[in-house]
This record gives sequence, C-alpha cells and structure tokens, in this order.
Amino acid sequence: PLLFHSPDVAPFRDTMPVPQVIDSSDVTVTARNTMHRFHRDWDRVPSFAYGDETHLGPTLISHRDQPWRLRTRNELGAHPLAKDVDHSLHNVPHDFGTRPRTSTHLHGGVTPPEADGHPLDFVAPGEQLTYEFPVRQEATHLWYHDHSMATTRLNVAAGLAGMNLVRDEFDTGRPDNPLGLPAGDFEVPLVLQEKIFGPGGTLNIRSTWIVPEGKWEGGAVGDVGLVNGVVWPELPVARGLYRFRVINAGSFSVWRLFFSNRMRFWVIGNDGGLLDAPVATTALRLSPAERVDILVDFSGLRPGESVELRNDEKPPGQAAILGEVTMPLFCRFTATSARGFTGAVPARLRGGRNRPPALAPLTRPVRRRVLTVLQDTDVRLPPALMSLNNLGFTTTDIEKPVQGTTEIWELVNITPDPHAIHVHLVHARILERQALRSTAYQLANPRPLHGKRWTPDPDRFVTGTPTPPAAWEAGLKDTVLSDGNSVTRVLVHWPTAEELGFDPDLAFTPQGATARAELAGDGHAGHGTSSGSGSGAGTGETGPGGGATTADGKVRGYLWHCHMLDHEDHDMMLPLRVVAP
Ligand code: C2O
Ligand code: CU
Repeated sequence: PLLFHSPDVAPFRDTMPVPQVIDSSDVTVTARNTMHRFHRDWDRVPSFAYGDETHLGPTLISHRDQPWRLRTRNELGAHPLAKDVDHSLHNVPHDFGTRPRTSTHLHGGVTPPEADGHPLDFVAPGEQLTYEFPVRQEATHLWYHDHSMATTRLNVAAGLAGMNLVRDEFDTGRPDNPLGLPAGDFEVPLVLQEKIFGPGGTLNIRSTWIVPEGKWEGGAVGDVGLVNGVVWPELPVARGLYRFRVINAGSFSVWRLFFSNRMRFWVIGNDGGLLDAPVATTALRLSPAERVDILVDFSGLRPGESVELRNDEKPPGQAAILGEVTMPLFCRFTATSARGFTGAVPARLRGGRNRPPALAPLTRPVRRRVLTVLQDTDVRLPPALMSLNNLGFTTTDIEKPVQGTTEIWELVNITPDPHAIHVHLVHARILERQALRSTAYQLANPRPLHGKRWTPDPDRFVTGTPTPPAAWEAGLKDTVLSDGNSVTRVLVHWPTAEELGFDPDLAFTPQGATARAELAGDGHAGHGTSSGSGSGAGTGETGPGGGATTADGKVRGYLWHCHMLDHEDHDMMLPLRVVAP
C-alpha cells in the first residue's frame, strides 16, 4: 500500500537489446527525446536517450593512453519526468521541464578536472560541450551519465546513461585477447535498473504517494527490473562461458544478485579494473554506480533451459517498512543449441607475462579522515535532507587531500540504510567494515545545525570485529557500499600531477556560468536547504558555488557524493580538491 505499482505485464516477452557499440577516438553523443517501448505489451512512451538508442546510450569504447574526445550535444525538449522536477532544490530553473539542461560525467574516469562533468558544467538545449580524456587507466568498464545539479535523478531515470569499455593491450575485447576472456557475442553489457512505471508503461520516478508530485522523494524504489532499458528481457545464450559487464544504473536500491539455480559465477573485476584472480561466488551485492565484471558458465544448461538473474535484497529506506523485496527479477537467460565460447575461466588475471601488474598491496596511510553519512531535517516537505559531514554542496569547508599521499577514509554511516559513496578521479580499496553504535555516537557528539562540519571520531563507538571486504569487492573501487550503522574504512591514494599526466587541481570555467551564478544567488534562503543555509552561499574567500569554486567563478577539482541519485540531488554531494603538496 505504500508503493505504487507498475501495470501488470508478463516477464520475458522481449529479447534483451544490446546497445550499439561505438569505437572511435572522437565521438559525439547527442541527448535526444525519443519514443521507447519498455515492454512489448506497452505503448511507445516519451523517453531520453543518447545517440541512436531509444533509451540509455550506446556502448562507447576507449583505449588506454589514446586520447579520447567525447562531445555531448543537448537536443532535449520536453522532459518525460517534468512533473517531478523539484524547483526548490539548488535553484533548478523554472523551465527545466521544457528546456532540460545536462552535464555529462564519465564515471570512474581518471579525468582532468576540466573534463569531469561538473554538475555546474551545464549544456543547455541547442548547445554542446567537448571533453578530452587522456584515458590513463587500465581496461575496465566505466559509464557516462548525466550529472546536472539537483536534476541528475530525473535525467538518468529518463535515459541519459551509457557504458564505456576501456580496452588495453591485455583486455583487448578481441577473441584473441591474451587473458583468454570471452569476447565478441560472448561479452555483453548488462545495464541494470529498477523502475515503477505509470499507466501504459510511461516513465515515472515517484514510487510512493507519501511524497506529493513535484517534490523530491529521496528513494525511487522500483517493482520491475530492466536490463539495457527493457523490462524483464530474455537473452538467448550459447552453451558456454559469457562475460557480463554489469552495472547498477538504478536510482536508489542496493541489490543482492544471484541466479535462480544458485549456480556459482566468477567475479573478474570491479569498478576500476581486474581482480588478481577470478573469485567464485553464488551471490553479490551491488549498490548504485558499482560495477562488476563477471563470467557466467551456461554450458550446464540443456537447450531450451533457462536461468533467471534475480535480486533478494529489500529496498533501503521507507519502502523497507513493508519488509518485502519489491523488485525480485531482472532477466532470463535461455540456452540455445549453439556452441558457445570454448575457453575456460582463467586461473589468473594479473601478474606475470601478458597480464596487467598485480594489485598493489595495501599501504600505510599518512592520514585518517573521518567523514559522516547522515540524514537531516529540512523545513520543507518531505522533511528530509541527505548530507555528508553535515554540510551541503555550497560549503567552503571541503576535503583537500594532498597529491601523492595515501589516506584512510572512514565513512561513518549513522543512518539505518546503506549508501553508495563515490569519489571522483580515484580508485580506492576497501579495508574493512565495522558495526557502529550510532545512537551512542550521536548522543556523545551533539550535532550542530546543518551547515557546520560534524565528523566526530567513531573509535569509542565501534563494536564487534572489523570485517574485511568480500573477495569479489577487494579490487579497485570508485564507489563503495557503506552499510547503515557502520564504519567503512577505505584506502585512497591521491595521485600526483606526474602520475596523472595532468594537473588535478586546475581551475576551469564551466559552461554553465549563468546557472552557477543562479546557484550562488541564494534566492531560496527561506527554504532552509543547504544551498541557502550553513556556510553562507556566495560568501567567503573561495567565492560562490561551493568550496571548490574560486573567486573569479572558476571551478576547481572534483566531487564525492552518495550515488543514490535521489541523494546526490539533495544534497549528499560535496566538492573535493586534490591540492599540490
Ligand atoms: Cu557517477 Cu559523480 O558520478
Ligand atoms: Cu545515499
């Protein structure tokens, strides 16, 4: 009763689409209005997409150390989710529903700040923006998606997201790759999402009637699963090994993924690249923006036999009150009689000849940094506001790690729910997680009003033995699952300009200079949101638009934020600078 429901449809009516692949060093993706059929038994409905797709975007290929130019054009008109634009968040323009602005971020990219898709680096309808990426990183799967200030959840849910496969000399993507991984038809992107559709299969982002239309909801829960933009599709598979490049491109939920026959599969990589060796498992958890690279063996299936990819994790937040799994299914794989990939699961993926170097041992940090993940109250309805460090986006009190240093980031999550913490530019390693007595922690450390840093030391309030990361998440991570009432310790190395080949602290002028002025203009102080309260938007030595913006309106550096899209929009996102020593 708390949730809306999608119109009833049967699963496995559609064949899983595989997005177009574009392998070019100079590529333009145009964000367009499209008509898309999410399920065979529904109508075509308004949607957004990049390029020639009707929902989501093409799979873009880039190559290590080969400069890659990505141009984004905005040709968008009427927003399919116009009724859900919350104009009170960060001064979203009144005409956003008819003239949606975008920003395009290459998630997980080791990217110069001027090409990082900053949320204020807007592309207005009719405009375009070109980014140059040096691609100084190992083969992996990244994704590009909209990152526009306070409207990311709407633009991504409408369809502005796609996959980027980085290739290198080991993981070439060709059948003769030295690692012996499945390639060609046997390597398939699985862009996973969950949604609740409106009447007739129309796009919708509200999942409950508790929040009024046009108001930020905070947790877009779904009841149907989508793969590559289609509801509960079926993929015919040859009997052999497949490589699936999996991404949680959903708005909010964390999933525990498994196959219906409980068969084991192998995780070979995380967000930033390969693991040292494949890790066999029968299930894994994936929070928004996390990726896993997996090998799945269908050779045990008889022709015609199927296996489903399922989820058994309840949604976080208010929907969990129901105590049920609201979205149990993504897709089905059905074996054909075709002969599949004949190779085996490789024994090793790193170290030695014809393989990338082994993952670095976890080194000693120079500094420990406590960061808090919390929920605050807002004077508006709904009365919630998500925050990091008790600060909002326009704060000047930001993290400024020093290039060439290694730190432990201790993510202290005092909410009862998981959050997906993403740091731009770097790939970190999870050290451990430990339970937190969050009530005692909060009672001992009274929290000031929103807008003042609150990052007390959690040491006296942790309990139980720290748990190391699961073997399948022990690789390179740009997004880390931070469970409720717990501390997650992550090791982050802040690269130097020499290591990167570019200056990570360069200031640049975003295209959206006007929009940035609007954001800093603080016309909404009465709402008591982070954009109007706290450190005083538009004041201070670093000038308007957040602590990473210089007095002349230029933006410095990167971001870190919760990747639950609802949360980053309001207002669980902070600027970050990686400063010179
Ligand atoms: Cu995938 Cu800052 O985002
Ligand atoms: Cu969150």
